Amino acid sequence: MKISVIGTGYVGLIQSVGLSEFGYNVVGIDIDESKIKQLNRGECPLYEEGVEELLNKHVGKNLRFTTSYDEIKDSDVIFLCVGTPQDEEGNADLRFIYSATESIRKKLDGNYKVIVIKSTVPIGTNRKIKEMLKDCNVDVVSNPEFLREGLALNDFLNPDRIVLGFENLNNPRPIEIMKEAYSYFSDKNVPFIITDWESSELIKYAANSFLATKISFINELSKLADVVGGDIKTISRAMGFDERIGNKFLNAGIGYGGSCFPKDVKALIKQFENNNIEPKLIRATDEVNEEQIYWFLNKIKKYYNNLNGKTFAILGLAFKPNTDDLRESRGIKLIELLLEEGAIVKCFDYVEKARENTINRYKFDKSKAFYGYNLYLFEDIYKTVENVDGIIITTEYSNLNEEDWNKIGNLVRNKVVFDGRNILDKNKIKNLGFKYFGVGRN
Ligand SMILES: NC(=O)c1ccc[n+]([C@@H]2O[C@H](COP(=O)([O-])OP(=O)(O)OC[C@H]3O[C@@H](n4cnc5c(N)ncnc54)[C@H](O)[C@@H]3O)[C@@H](O)[C@H]2O)c1
Repeated sequence: MKISVIGTGYVGLIQSVGLSEFGYNVVGIDIDESKIKQLNRGECPLYEEGVEELLNKHVGKNLRFTTSYDEIKDSDVIFLCVGTPQDEEGNADLRFIYSATESIRKKLDGNYKVIVIKSTVPIGTNRKIKEMLKDCNVDVVSNPEFLREGLALNDFLNPDRIVLGFENLNNPRPIEIMKEAYSYFSDKNVPFIITDWESSELIKYAANSFLATKISFINELSKLADVVGGDIKTISRAMGFDERIGNKFLNAGIGYGGSCFPKDVKALIKQFENNNIEPKLIRATDEVNEEQIYWFLNKIKKYYNNLNGKTFAILGLAFKPNTDDLRESRGIKLIELLLEEGAIVKCFDYVEKARENTINRYKFDKSKAFYGYNLYLFEDIYKTVENVDGIIITTEYSNLNEEDWNKIGNLVRNKVVFDGRNILDKNKIKNLGFKYFGVGRN
């Protein structure tokens, strides 16, 4: 089976290397020339465990990358994995999806193909794509992706389920082709959900928004715990033992970020509104998330009275551990809020590519900065904390507990930690003489 993958970002690149590992001939297509050159050299443009190894195993053999859509002519299946970011009003911006569809349409030559939409798209998009391709010999299949950044390859190889949405469930041809393409998963007894386009599209938004709602629920509760006194970590742990609730996505913190939850929640709200239905719960999920970082910032402000001229160490730039993705990162957001308050920020992330992305974002050359030269980046956690008035944890790095907090205590100007991810062993930190402020946990 020959396969094309359009878009070689987090989803498309994992799909490309994963399918080449299954033995298929795969061509990855992207409009970003420099990314394509990098990939053909076997260099992985993003930080994701195991991907560079698989890339090097297959590139130049059964996997190659190009900017030319000509290559789709030989493919049996074409996966569309381009970005669907948020537009100015909060809708999913479908520009990239439609322009990629148009590029495919121009190259179709009458031979039958299955076009698979892996990008997260609002309800009705698969139908619209089929409409754009109505004169072509194709079937359009919805196949939303559920991988988690930081664990992407593992999630690709071990999915909880495969969701496939079809135009007509009585038409066996695209169903059989998808089952063949994904036979690796059926051999592993991964459940297949075979459904219609609309259900498949909505499943993806429902899953992400539900997880986001769990996070916003515990974040809202953390505010009450903050005020009345209570430890939200103990509360969520106790809740999580109830298997109807479960312990995942129940850690209070400074809010969810990343390339999916914020935009998918907002896009679902828009889909409700576009259909004249009030999205009460999902809107609240979004609002709680937007406010959470200000609740935390206020805690910091209350402690210092005035942040102007104060120096902080921000530990964590990526939106979550083991990724380089800064999109909607709460750490980045907090840096910008602190700089607006006149603070000096020294920042750090364990992932080198996350640090590189931060340098590129602010266009500073390591120790120069923007906002009046008040932002500094370090490769070493101990240099980051030197002479700071407070340490702020913004990414959920559990290995922070393994750092030498005695040494950190000797380096800082003021022994205060604001743990925005409730990740530290607070008793250990307090016993070392630090003041500790978590989220719903002091
Ligand atoms: N990142 C995740 O964890 C994740 C998980 C599940 C689903 N998704 C969804 O998958 C989709 C892709 O997300 P991503 O994070 O991989 O995006 P990304 O921004 O990392 O990558 C998108 C890629 O598409 C390329 N592209 C844009 N227009 C193109 C075109 N016309 N032709 C060819 N290439 C084009 C871009 O150059 C880029 O390399 C989104 O809809 C997202 O919501 C993402």
